[in-house]
Amino acid sequence: MSPRSLIQTAVFPVAGRGTRFLPATKASPKEMLPVVDKPLIQYAVEEALAAGARRLVFITGASKRAIEDHFDSDHELEHILESQGKTELARQIRSVLPPYASCIYIRQPAPLGLGHAVLCALPAVGSEPFFVHLADDLIQGSIPCLKQMAEIYDAKRASILGVEIVPRRDTDKYGIVEVESDRSHTSRVRSIVEKPKPADAPSNLAVVGRYILTPSIFEHLEHIGRGAGGEIQLTDGIARLMREEAVYAYRFTGKRFDCGNKLGYLQATVELALAHPALGGDFRRYLNTLRPPARRRARKP
Ligand code: UTP
Repeated sequence: MSPRSLIQTAVFPVAGRGTRFLPATKASPKEMLPVVDKPLIQYAVEEALAAGARRLVFITGASKRAIEDHFDSDHELEHILESQGKTELARQIRSVLPPYASCIYIRQPAPLGLGHAVLCALPAVGSEPFFVHLADDLIQGSIPCLKQMAEIYDAKRASILGVEIVPRRDTDKYGIVEVESDRSHTSRVRSIVEKPKPADAPSNLAVVGRYILTPSIFEHLEHIGRGAGGEIQLTDGIARLMREEAVYAYRFTGKRFDCGNKLGYLQATVELALAHPALGGDFRRYLNTLRPPARRRARKP
């Protein structure tokens, strides 16, 4: 069973174009890119389930079929695997989604921005707080990031943004927050701005793809216009929400891989492959064979 949680709904915006991964993402969402043996969206769903979510809302775009198919049961495949004696694989296929979880798919008519994608979730979310999870930010740690944030929500009963310190030169890739206290892991947000130039950024504390939002966000998203990059920005909605409610930034524990770009995706693949219980040893031995011969010789006694 899912753990008891105040937050039951997780929203997964998966309607972006994923242009940085073209042509891989031409006919399939980037959230279906596999890291070792699971697509990014499965890591995302597992994290949300671990935090107590049971209603999973996918905001999909033009190429949604692969995600729907992934979370559908496939009795024929299970039967084939069972009849071949591959019972462990059959079990893994069955457990892609536990029976208590339900999926809702909502189409974002055009990729107008993350704020617009979240607004599309309104009919499924209603008037309760909810998680937003961007699957291309893969976060690994002993306690799943959303679970850490759900605990902060239990105490604060306010919107929580997952944040991380980034190099100052990178502030123009993120929403950046200014907080009341740099020293604490959880701090009230004073201001938030989308993709500021390094010289204009109020800090180097970046919002990454994890949010807990109160339902009041929807009223604000309905009224904001296009912001940075001509898109309807979630950051702008949060900036308006902050005029009425406290919003907290939470510096999570864990390692984030930005799988929205090729280098981050490759780093995630290498690190998760090295940590894989069945594959890690062989993969490490293989990587060692790639070391430059001179260095290998130099290390010999
Ligand atoms: P990105 O900013 O990474 O954009 O979106 P993108 O279109 O997916 O990728 P690039 O930059 O073209 O390579 C962050 C998250 O927000 C979702 C994306 O699917 C991704 O999970 N998103 C973005 C939407 O669902 N709808 C949008 O209109 C924009």
